[in-house]
Amino acid sequence: GSYKNILVEKKGDKSQVGFVRLNRPKALNSLCDDLLRELNVAFREFDADPSVKAIVLTGSSKAFAAGADIKEMQPKTYSTVFGTNFINDWTEMLRIRKPIIAAVNGYALGGGCELAMMCDIIYAGDSAKFAQPEIRLGTIPGAGGTQRLPRAVGKSKAMEMCLTGDMITAKEAESAGLVSKVVPADKLEAAALDLAERISRMSLMAIYAAKESVNAAYEAPLSQGLLLERRLFHASFGTRDRSEGMSAFTEKRAAEFKDE
Ligand code: HXC
Repeated sequence: GSYKNILVEKKGDKSQVGFVRLNRPKALNSLCDDLLRELNVAFREFDADPSVKAIVLTGSSKAFAAGADIKEMQPKTYSTVFGTNFINDWTEMLRIRKPIIAAVNGYALGGGCELAMMCDIIYAGDSAKFAQPEIRLGTIPGAGGTQRLPRAVGKSKAMEMCLTGDMITAKEAESAGLVSKVVPADKLEAAALDLAERISRMSLMAIYAAKESVNAAYEAPLSQGLLLERRLFHASFGTRDRSEGMSAFTEKRAAEFKDE
């Protein structure tokens, strides 16, 4: 596509990984409206592309994203942001069914941290820094920071971050549960790509079901989440790939999934 703020390609041994790089270096990948529109188009196209099974979202070595674009927000008034439902299009990516892995090097601040948290898995380079600095601008997080951060790191640390804007390191983010793995910064993209390739070897039917079911853990009461899980587990018995997976195990061979 003809994107101005992102670079989009397919990677992996079978081009099965959709790869998106935030590419607005002059503003440390701050997330202007145009960038978000482009990101949503790229995600939607990968979601619809039958050859793609997982997506990696990354930035540069200096910044994953330094937040929403402060210069673009500065002149906005209450009636503009309320009237246009500013930030609403950020939630479009929550409808993407394929797993999205955020590979975070450098700054993930404000909307950048929130964008990473809207992904399904976060890997961080060892020099990554996470923060919700909105309070220093006289505002608060607007794309999930006050909601997803407490679920990820607990109330005390989330409250401290939202009230001070202080950054946490990759190591702290890992021990708090915000990121699932920290690797040397120069190995981050390879690690995220390897993860995406390993996921891509699974049946897309099971990938969709697993993502949908884990996400229900954040939305539904336990009994409803467990019920959805049970139904999706049962439904997997209607797929060709579930039958193949269990046959392959009994026959001591590798499963060949066909996403059916
Ligand atoms: C617009 C930004 C920006 C941002 C950096 N830049 N962050 N422009 N919006 N969020 C621009 C700078 O103005 C500068 O451009 C260029 O990027 C390089 O940044 P520097 O500040 O010169 O770099 P450095 O000294 O290395 O400091 C890096 C930094 C700092 C610590 C990340 O840039 C910073 O504090 N940025 C703001 C972080 C922030 O407050 N994020 C939250 C935003 S609010 P020029 O042309 O001036 O040299 C938010 C709300 C979300 O995200 C709500 C819902 C989505």
